[in-house]
Amino acid sequence: MENIYLVGFMGSGKSTVGKLLATKLSLTFIDVDKLIEKKENRSIKEIFEKEGESYFRNLEKIEINNLSKSKGYVVSTGGGLGADLDNMKVMRETGNVIWLDVTLNTILERCKNDENRPLLKLPPADLKKLYENRKKIYSLANIRINADRKNPNQIVEEIINKLRGRK
Ligand code: S3P
Repeated sequence: MENIYLVGFMGSGKSTVGKLLATKLSLTFIDVDKLIEKKENRSIKEIFEKEGESYFRNLEKIEINNLSKSKGYVVSTGGGLGADLDNMKVMRETGNVIWLDVTLNTILERCKNDENRPLLKLPPADLKKLYENRKKIYSLANIRINADRKNPNQIVEEIINKLRGRK
């Protein structure tokens, strides 16, 4: 079984959906953000503050390249990982990439009290630009799911149906 990679903006539900999907398909779930935090022994917030964003982006690249060498994982990626062309290429070559497409309004609503995502602190116009730019890369995923106002179980069902349709 090839890997299944979940991409999408912050707060699109990748980790929640990924865990459920992995359970349903009896695959192993991996959250790249958690993997990085464990290896670095500090939070993403701290990594951003102490080392800067490009250091973190490099760690993401290393991890996704490592994971791409294994099979049978459901991988939840950070919002920036799936918005990088090289990462997208690696994921597409080694599995199915699923984009959880959620509107910016829903994301802002879901993440309004979130202190742990450094990029949510961007001024609103910059965040909107980031969202629009990232969508261009997310849209290279194999499967797009409109994940707005749907519960995680519905989304998982939709993903499984679409994956079956691709076989
Ligand atoms: C980021 C999203 C976060 C995390 C980091 C950077 C981004 O993950 O990787 O804060 O660039 O969008 P989530 O998408 O799980 O919030």
